[in-house]
Amino acid sequence: MKTIFSGIQPSGTITLGNYIGALKQFVELQNEYNCYFCIVDQHAITVPQDPATLRKNIRSLAALYIAVGIDPEKATLFIQSEVPAHAQAGWLMQCVSYIGELERMTQFKDKSAGKEAVSASLLTYPPLMAADILLYNAELVPVGEDQKQHLELTRDLAERFNKKYREILTMPEVRIPEVGARIMSLQDPTRKMSKSDPNQKAFLALLDDPKQIEKKIKSAVTDSEGIVKYDKENKPGISNLLSIYSILGNMTIAELEVMYHGKGYGDFKGDLADVVIKAFKPIQDKYYELMESTELDEILDLGAEKANKVASKTLKKMENAMGLGRKRK
Ligand code: TYM
Repeated sequence: MKTIFSGIQPSGTITLGNYIGALKQFVELQNEYNCYFCIVDQHAITVPQDPATLRKNIRSLAALYIAVGIDPEKATLFIQSEVPAHAQAGWLMQCVSYIGELERMTQFKDKSAGKEAVSASLLTYPPLMAADILLYNAELVPVGEDQKQHLELTRDLAERFNKKYREILTMPEVRIPEVGARIMSLQDPTRKMSKSDPNQKAFLALLDDPKQIEKKIKSAVTDSEGIVKYDKENKPGISNLLSIYSILGNMTIAELEVMYHGKGYGDFKGDLADVVIKAFKPIQDKYYELMESTELDEILDLGAEKANKVASKTLKKMENAMGLGRKRK
């Protein structure tokens, strides 16, 4: 059985983008693959975090993973900082990374732009991400399109390590969904929907209540043509909404275009709000139930134990190949 690894940062709101680009794929993949899903809290602290809020967000993300349908009997769910091999292997991967290639990462450029004090870890974020993936010998990494560049770097680092030391690391492939790889902002459909957007109306959060969902969708930016038609170049707003409708409503874009032929954006948006509310409802119900229970801690303890076994084995192999410490088995 092939192995999958993927992670999500517990940095606040989990958006519809995270759901469609990542979580929804994970649920489908867990039946066919040996899956490791991680709450990457060490990545989250590359930008300032309030400790108490971070703790809360970690637990909340764990509950969301389960609420969307991750089955802990099938997949291993764990917190990155509870498996020490991640930080350790992250250091090793930093040692095979070049500053130049890290500075070229668009996420680093975006997050550091205009900031006076940028943490060193924001630059060395990708080698830690490479370590996450490589420790589990993951063959496939399901992510949204924005992570593609980090995956390419992971492959470069793995190849460099294997050539320089020993053929230990498995070359991972990226897996990006065909529809919904890049869900766009509701307020500026030329930009990615992002949880760090200061404008709350720009994203739908998985935990938004029906009123918020309706309001945000009704105020989503479209165009003045009033024709429900997919045209990414010229009609990015309505095209984004059509993608969302298609994925959550289980209909093709062509079917939706026929259904809304001759109707305006008002009707379309009203129905889309209903579709989103209906899709989020069971997730939210399960989420609130889990947050009250002790089930989560048991799942995360077991997940960390399972992850630790695999990750520490690969770490030892890497350290041996690099000549660190004394020879161990
Ligand atoms: P993060 O936490 O920013 O996002 C989690 C996942 O959601 C996807 N995503 C989107 N997909 C479609 N449309 C959007 N608007 C959208 N916004 C976010 C992301 O592509 C991602 O799959 N660096 C990673 C976390 C990470 C990781 C890893 C991922 C750390 N180690 C190892 C895979 C493997 C990140 O910041 O994702």
